[in-house]
Amino acid sequence: MLKFIHLTDTHLVEQGHALYGLDPRHRLRRCIDSILEEHADARACVVTGDLAHVGHPDAYRQLSEQLARLPMPVFPILGNHDHRGNFRQYFPEVPVDSQGFVQYEKALGAYRGLFLDTNEPGVSHGVFCAQRAHWLAERLAEDEQPILLFMHHPAFDLGIPTMDRIRLLQPEAFISAVKGHEHRIQHLFFGHIHRPIFGTWQDIPFSTLRGTNHQVALRLDDTGQIAGSHEPPQYGVVLLNETGLTVHIHDFLDTSERFSLGE
Ligand SMILES: [Fe+2]
Repeated sequence: MLKFIHLTDTHLVEQGHALYGLDPRHRLRRCIDSILEEHADARACVVTGDLAHVGHPDAYRQLSEQLARLPMPVFPILGNHDHRGNFRQYFPEVPVDSQGFVQYEKALGAYRGLFLDTNEPGVSHGVFCAQRAHWLAERLAEDEQPILLFMHHPAFDLGIPTMDRIRLLQPEAFISAVKGHEHRIQHLFFGHIHRPIFGTWQDIPFSTLRGTNHQVALRLDDTGQIAGSHEPPQYGVVLLNETGLTVHIHDFLDTSERFSLGE
């Protein structure tokens, strides 16, 4: 059994600044405290983008400081709020592809983890261009190992109209890269939506979860602007073995009473 942590949408800002009435650095620190206390045996920690809220260098400095507290390797990717250059300054060890996109591969037990870059400067929606899709198609063609895919933007509608408008738009290159490999993609993890959601797309199971700072309210009607909320933050605890995987969602700030439910 291999355990890894899924974090998303940390949205760090310059130290001392608040975001939507919350302190993203404090929230992240509490999250890391919880991982250290409860899941320090995890073999990796994945962070699916929107690491920083406006891509400020100080946000990446704080992120690297907090993530450095973890004993396991950390695999971050970019979201629409991120700044590729500032990120790379503070995370020089994270691989990039030949075009400079933050795309790379890491082994997660018997699975190949493929980490994708859907960031496009100046826009909120996701972009996965022909060059990025070419990298993915090449990786998928290499062998028949089971795959875990990580990206910030979902490539499909989830039923929240304000978020569906800023998903991965024009996803044809992405869809064509994964075509024929759907059966090997054991799970697709993404961020961006700031809500716990599970389902399948093209027969691929997917999950996403709340961020560590602010959230998106469950509004399936078109509210025009994205409806924010202060629902509790989360991280995911993923258990992998040869037969499949399980995703647990942990509301790490919850302090409600624990008690015995009997046998
Ligand atoms: Fe976000």
